Amino acid sequence: MSDAAHWDAIYEGGVEGRSWHQTSATASLSLMDAAGIPAVASVIDIGGAASRLVDDLLARGHRDLTVLDISDTGLALSRSRLGARAATVEWVVADLLTWQPTRMYAVWHDRAVGHFFTTDAERTAYASVLTAAVAPGGHAIIGGFAPDGPTHCSGLEVKRAGLAEFADLVGPAFDLVAEEREAHTTPSGATQSFQWTLWRRRG
Ligand SMILES: C[S@@+](CC[C@H](N)C(=O)[O-])C[C@H]1O[C@@H](n2cnc3c(N)ncnc32)[C@H](O)[C@@H]1O
Repeated sequence: MSDAAHWDAIYEGGVEGRSWHQTSATASLSLMDAAGIPAVASVIDIGGAASRLVDDLLARGHRDLTVLDISDTGLALSRSRLGARAATVEWVVADLLTWQPTRMYAVWHDRAVGHFFTTDAERTAYASVLTAAVAPGGHAIIGGFAPDGPTHCSGLEVKRAGLAEFADLVGPAFDLVAEEREAHTTPSGATQSFQWTLWRRRG
């Protein structure tokens, strides 16, 4: 089963019961505030699918928003939820690792996506796309399972990451600005340990 078919099948059942679901992207917004991201900043949510981050950012006045995911079924959940507001967002169906950005963004956001890239080749490709997509002086906000977090998500193995592994994932063009841990409570009441990182691309 291709990655797209895997994720489409998952999102066919909706997202509210999925372990990563959250009603508001609190940790992401907190790091955006730490970075001083203004509402005029362009933001791309990598692997955003049905995430409510786009709702939160629209409510904050952002008008240059892109959501990319390998699963159009997942993206459709957000488009349906947003209704008419979806027309103001750019929706991209693509495999992140082979995607070729046609513009640069002020902010790259990735919650629980990069940790699925477990091989050296995938992680090198991630750094390459990240560097091509983020403007000099721009920011990357990336969160995934911490070293004491789960080993799997959605039946797939993940690479748990502390700061050293995140530095390896983003590559040499980025400097660490801030980091924090989060205990995410899943819809079933379990706790998952996340490591969050905020990076700035060198100008
Ligand atoms: C655990 S979910 C997290 C979703 C979202 N970031 C959130 O916080 O609600 C992982 C997401 O990554 C997407 N994904 C997995 N591999 C991908 C790839 N190679 N390119 C783009 N998206 C991918 C999946 O479709 C899924 O929506």
